[in-house]
Amino acid sequence: MVKIVIKKKIKSFNKIINVDGDKSISIRSLLIGSQSYGVCKIKNLPRSGDILSTINGLKKLGIKIFFKNKTCILHGNGLNGFNFKKNISINAGNSGTFARLLLGLLIKSPYEIKIIGDDSLSRRDFKRVIDPLKKFGAKFDAKNKKNLPLKILGTEYLKPINYFEKRGSAQCKSSIILASLNTPGKTILKARKSRNHTELFLKYLNLPIKLINEKELDKIEMSGEYQFKSFNYTIPGDMSSSAFFIVLTLLSKNSKLKIKSVNVNSSRIGFIKIINKMGAKVRFLNKRKICGEPIADICVESQKNLKSINCPIKLNSNAIDEFLVIFLLASKASGVSSFRKLEELNKKESPRLKLAAIILKKMGVKIILGSGSIKIFGNPNLSVNKEIHIKKYYKDHRIFMTSVIAALCLGGKWTIEDMESHMSSFPSFMSKLKRLGYKF
Ligand code: S3P
Repeated sequence: MVKIVIKKKIKSFNKIINVDGDKSISIRSLLIGSQSYGVCKIKNLPRSGDILSTINGLKKLGIKIFFKNKTCILHGNGLNGFNFKKNISINAGNSGTFARLLLGLLIKSPYEIKIIGDDSLSRRDFKRVIDPLKKFGAKFDAKNKKNLPLKILGTEYLKPINYFEKRGSAQCKSSIILASLNTPGKTILKARKSRNHTELFLKYLNLPIKLINEKELDKIEMSGEYQFKSFNYTIPGDMSSSAFFIVLTLLSKNSKLKIKSVNVNSSRIGFIKIINKMGAKVRFLNKRKICGEPIADICVESQKNLKSINCPIKLNSNAIDEFLVIFLLASKASGVSSFRKLEELNKKESPRLKLAAIILKKMGVKIILGSGSIKIFGNPNLSVNKEIHIKKYYKDHRIFMTSVIAALCLGGKWTIEDMESHMSSFPSFMSKLKRLGYKF
């Protein structure tokens, strides 16, 4: 286990960077590619832990995938075209997105397939996808009826479902949409708002998917068993990875940053809306569409006058992966910030709301923690003048990266364990910090 020690703040910077490709879209491109017919070429696919777990899992299912220069080449075998031996086991590593979405593609499997994952993934809830996928006709045998390891057995006699996804979980919604690809007839899904990359991807490929946006719900109708051709795709930069650098810039002195070609899909910019309400003044330039997804360059500058927020609940699911850095910003804002209905945050790679409270307290920030809420008493003069030790918390990449950003802009001496965890979503995190001038 590698740890990092940070003893000084980052100096002013004025730079242009790229971040690694978006994790959610990357996993979807590989899974959807596996169901297409022909050769897909995917550019800017990051070689992060979660993506490598996806590639290795698909290879076990008989999909040929390799990198040629920087492009990922994937040979799709068509719908339900997996080709594998009996008794295989797929290791999803740390990736909830891969594990949950893959299950949607396995509902027609003639043999039982075992899915395993690391300790963090093995603690997470799979009942949220088991329940709807059972309704299609698939059978499950899961530890405690909800955890990994689990076994799935598909059926030839799939039937479309009519389902209401109430959590606002994009993984759950996407698992159902992917299940509908191999199911005859029309699957109808009502879902609380969450990131919509799966829907946009299938629309981009001209599949028979109908999207109706209602105020708080998305309605999705998908006709299955529609064979589709392979595609070329370019993965945009990841908003969730950009968030670390946006907050670093806001909280550093006299600094400016441009992050090029980031995905600014409206279902992913809750973070930007929240921090702009706090006075961040983040701007999008050069807005355009690539492969059906909106992309822009993000511009941000240091900001001394941040104010607290009473965070609107409707933005929660569109900012769900960014709350750790939002809390960091709130701790340097003037006034008391309040965040509610965040129970889902405790169901991520680690119980993030609880851990955020522990880390903020270590930093000397006053907080009040509830089961799904937190109040943060901000202080624009906050700085750290002591030693802080951040332990290995369930291999959570975002805990590691948030702690590094806190150390770089607040001072103190930080020892942060579990450095390799950032490889699961943002392998170039450390090299981007070096590019901003920080010497480790
Ligand atoms: C993701 C959805 C979110 C998010 C995760 C990626 C996706 O999870 O936290 O990092 O790619 O669909 P939930 O669906 O559990 O909210």
